[in-house]
Amino acid sequence: MKTLTFTTNSYNHTVELGETIAKSLLPGQGILLTGDLGAGKTTIISGICKTLGYTGHVKSPTFVIAWLYEGNHPIYHVDLYRLDDYCELENIGWEEMTDESRIYLVEWADKFELPFTADALKLFLEYGDNPDSRKITVEYNERTYPHLEKDLLEYENNRN
Ligand SMILES: Nc1ncnc2c1ncn2[C@@H]1O[C@H](COP(=O)(O)OP(=O)(O)OP(=O)(O)O)[C@@H](O)[C@H]1O
Ligand SMILES: [Mg+2]
Repeated sequence: MKTLTFTTNSYNHTVELGETIAKSLLPGQGILLTGDLGAGKTTIISGICKTLGYTGHVKSPTFVIAWLYEGNHPIYHVDLYRLDDYCELENIGWEEMTDESRIYLVEWADKFELPFTADALKLFLEYGDNPDSRKITVEYNERTYPHLEKDLLEYENNRN
């Protein structure tokens, strides 16, 4: 496992980090996001969706549990905030959501153990030193995401 940590200083910076990360995502893969209320999970997902070909509105599916977006591939945006165990997610079709033709993006992914996520990339979002800063840690398998580190470092260098 590899981990990289970035500090973003604005909403747009976090969106762009998401756009960069999504360049590595293939159908059948997905992202598990963890972080407090308002940490920026939905914000980074909006950038991820943009790269995946979906430019419509993105918001937390807190009450409906999952949204389906039509990007270059079907994208499932899932929120576990109101769920207590995997059974509830299984009932709404988690196994299908993670099949090889789709991409899954999950907020509050640490609520319970999620099957079919061995290839997932993980994002941990934390509040930073000021209201507009966030610390974002990316954890992933380098064999599954071979270009990710180069893409992220290139993006960060070009900002400076
Ligand atoms: N650097 C930053 N990155 C991301 N969001 C930021 C940043 N600075 C300020 N913000 C603000 O923080 C909020 C992040 O909200 P967002 O909906 O993305 O959080 P969330 O983690 O999805 O929360 P929830 O658990 O309620 O779904 C937004 O209001 C955004 O404008
Ligand atoms: Mg959210």
